[in-house]
Amino acid sequence: MKGPLAIIGYMGSGKSTVGRILARRLGWEFVDLDTELAVREKRPIPQIFRESGEGYFRDLESRGLAWALRTEERVVACGGGVVLREENRRLLSAVSTVFLEEDLGVLYARTRGDSRPLRGTSREEFERRYAEREALYAESCGLRVLVDGRTPEEVAEEVLRWMKG
Ligand code: S3P
Repeated sequence: MKGPLAIIGYMGSGKSTVGRILARRLGWEFVDLDTELAVREKRPIPQIFRESGEGYFRDLESRGLAWALRTEERVVACGGGVVLREENRRLLSAVSTVFLEEDLGVLYARTRGDSRPLRGTSREEFERRYAEREALYAESCGLRVLVDGRTPEEVAEEVLRWMKG
């Protein structure tokens, strides 16, 4: 049961919801990395992308991740693109990291109504971005959980079983 615990996966996979449940069950602090970055920047993520670009956001994200993973009793829900940088993958590989995997059609549908900057305008674009990332999620995690329509509570149970080893 070694912390911190990081949750990774593509947009809409339930990282924040599952992460919050896990933090409650473990009695640990919960940090949503995107929320933390938006608070630090005093502007929402889409505005950061629009005004300062993706490179600027990725710099913030890397610094935020390094900070977030410094506390043991903490669950950290990461943004979907956190695995793009090698330095981040190295940090994730060194802690307990869970990759939440879900059917791409489900994720696509779930992300249509919101303002995520990289959610893509077409199913093809959404799938292409995932294809670039899947191996990176896989290499950064210690546990790969197929959500497969299960509730966040059920998914959290599986993660807890893994953590209890
Ligand atoms: C991103 C996912 C977002 C957020 C940013 C970039 C990505 O987080 O970090 O918009 O590159 O996939 P969610 O996975 O919580 O949507």
